[in-house]
Amino acid sequence: MTQRREFLKFLAASPLLTSYETFAQEVEETLGQRLTDPSEVINVFEMEAVAREKIPPAHFGYLSTGVDGDLTLRANRAGFSRFQIKPRRLVDVSQPDLSVNVLGTQAGSPIFICPVGSHGGFNAEAEIGVARAAAAKNHHMTLSTQSSTPIEAVADARGAPIWFQLYPTDRWENTVAMLQRAEAAGCTAVCLTIDLPAGRNTETQSILMREDMRTCSNCHTGQPKPIFEGLNMQGVGLNDPSLTWDVIGRIKEVTDMNVFIKGVEVGIDASLAVENGADGIWVSNHGARATETGRGTIECLPEIVNAINGRIPVIIDSGFRRGTDIYKALAMGASAVGIGRPYIWGLGAFGQAGVERVLDLLNRELLITMQGSGTPTITSIGPDYVLDAGHRVPRGRLGRELL
Ligand SMILES: Cc1cc2nc3c(=O)[nH]c(=O)nc-3n(C[C@H](O)[C@H](O)[C@H](O)COP(=O)(O)O)c2cc1C
Repeated sequence: MTQRREFLKFLAASPLLTSYETFAQEVEETLGQRLTDPSEVINVFEMEAVAREKIPPAHFGYLSTGVDGDLTLRANRAGFSRFQIKPRRLVDVSQPDLSVNVLGTQAGSPIFICPVGSHGGFNAEAEIGVARAAAAKNHHMTLSTQSSTPIEAVADARGAPIWFQLYPTDRWENTVAMLQRAEAAGCTAVCLTIDLPAGRNTETQSILMREDMRTCSNCHTGQPKPIFEGLNMQGVGLNDPSLTWDVIGRIKEVTDMNVFIKGVEVGIDASLAVENGADGIWVSNHGARATETGRGTIECLPEIVNAINGRIPVIIDSGFRRGTDIYKALAMGASAVGIGRPYIWGLGAFGQAGVERVLDLLNRELLITMQGSGTPTITSIGPDYVLDAGHRVPRGRLGRELL
């Protein structure tokens, strides 16, 4: 016992160990500059490191920020530690199949591309690059109200029906016009985002903006190309703090698209969404950009799945970075899992090729998890394959994350 203690003391004082830690830190800090081809990137955290080098600090701040002290941001990652995978053995997993069908939307993978505003701020290929990557890898895509590319061009580049994310404007005739334009562009669902009724306090964004020495007005000249060309949005706000659940019925009166409610975090709201006619639930805390000191969405999922009880599909996003994260949500009852920042890291790092690499990496990790757990198809992944430990399991630094 004494010998072991002496040995540990020796290790702690060893210059070898100290220099290894310094070395590891240096490797981490310079990683983003050294990875020059998408194929060299081995996980989404490395893609983030590359993107950090290439995206202007102010834009990276917009991308990475949570709200206030970013506690929900950390909760989104830490929440996964509460759930452990329970693999089964000696199942024939020689013919794996990742494909899904959510309300008639077919995709080759349950990993859905979340609506993220202004792709043009991360790479000139913008939404077109993302749509082409989604098409190449057969992933489903939802386009943000704040897209920097017209919806018709994005739908065309994707080559399959996309969904439209709607911010509830404070002028109903504009909302109706947007819905009609989206439907005419071939969208088969509208995802109404309900988690930002008012403003938000994005401190990390403000801090990173201080690092950016450029003059914003040099680049931000004129009006960006809006998602709906020709639609007059002058003076129209994208938040309507007066909205209540009857908005679902009002939307359904003016469109035949399926209506998903994005931003649900509690079971009672999921029930209210169903009662008011929603076709799908999208569990999300906006990538921790809405409420501060919330739960990780994976921790919200059980009560929502319970409330829905199979009546309508449940999609989830916020903090998904690993195939195992995605697997856990599928096992707990999600029909598909959205990613936001990870594919934008790919876009910012390498354009379309970077988005494709992110999709490949996550699909590969999910595939390995599925085969390793004895579940060759998405529908074979059920509640028996995941355990809720009932509390988060502290893991210090979260895996290989840079958080
Ligand atoms: C930079 C950024 C912009 C976003 N813009 C929108 C948006 O316009 N509409 C929306 O519904 N959600 C938006 N989101 C939220 C995403 O749709 C999604 O819920 C979130 O990014 C998922 O979390 P993740 O980034 O941790 O994967 C945005 C997220 C980020 C990071």
